[in-house]
Amino acid sequence: MSTARATAASVQGDPAGSRLSAAEFSAISVLVQNSCGINLTTDKLELVNSRLQKRLRALRLDAFAQYIEFVNSSAGADEFNEMISALTTNVTSFYRESHHFEHFAQTCLPRLVTKLNAGEAVRIWSAGCSNGAEAFTLAGVILERMPDAARRNLRILATDIDPKSIERARRGTYSEDFVQKLPGNYLSKWFSPSANQYQVNDELRNLVSFNILNLMEKWPLKKKYDVIFCRNVMIYFSRPTQEKLLQRFSDLMNPGSFLYIGHSERVGGPAASSLKPAGMTIYERY
Ligand SMILES: C[S@@+](CC[C@H](N)C(=O)[O-])C[C@H]1O[C@@H](n2cnc3c(N)ncnc32)[C@H](O)[C@@H]1O
Repeated sequence: MSTARATAASVQGDPAGSRLSAAEFSAISVLVQNSCGINLTTDKLELVNSRLQKRLRALRLDAFAQYIEFVNSSAGADEFNEMISALTTNVTSFYRESHHFEHFAQTCLPRLVTKLNAGEAVRIWSAGCSNGAEAFTLAGVILERMPDAARRNLRILATDIDPKSIERARRGTYSEDFVQKLPGNYLSKWFSPSANQYQVNDELRNLVSFNILNLMEKWPLKKKYDVIFCRNVMIYFSRPTQEKLLQRFSDLMNPGSFLYIGHSERVGGPAASSLKPAGMTIYERY
């Protein structure tokens, strides 16, 4: 390492010699792209360096070359998950992009009620659910209008690639800061305070099942879906990966069902012929 580079590295707190090189960044990008679709552009080198430095320290490794060898080995399977966890962005909140939940309540839910009343099953998927805030918001909106929802044939599946996110979502415990922006009486109605935190009530939890699922792999889903929320997930994928994913969503959706995507995402490619715009970043399958 040159003196200038060694100095820059030590200023940033990296042990000498452990700074991520362009070639090592490229090796990690390929691994991440192939396993979970995330497209790490070269401007992310610093971010990857700083997030993975923590993993090197935890494993007491001196160099990224050793780390890459480890995550590629069979002994490194758990560390592979840690790496994905460190490199994914899990930002979320209750009622995020609230216009989606308004559309869901006003336009989508009446259709779901009609299906349930006709004896049909209703399936909702929160794909890339992070800590579960999106799925629990949906459960709250449903229960407000259908208090007996748990006794109807309606289920919310919430999935994420990150095992830590799924663990958090299953726990259903949120900090005071995180629940602060919840509207109206939502907090007192659906949460119980517990040791400086808030615990989601069983009524909400009973509607949702959480599972680890990588959107890039085969989905173990047998039924068609009536609602898919996949928001602020595709933004990290390349355009061809997004288009393939959108087509897979479309194939899984019942006619008349809705797809909700993030504010900076859009439907394009072949799926655009079966998913028609139905509101701001909302698409109806026809
Ligand atoms: C920014 S969060 C979005 C959470 C929520 N949908 C929302 O909009 O508030 C993105 C989530 O996508 C997950 N993710 C990234 N790549 C994934 C993949 N290939 N399969 C499944 N989930 C993935 C991340 O782990 C993260 O929890």
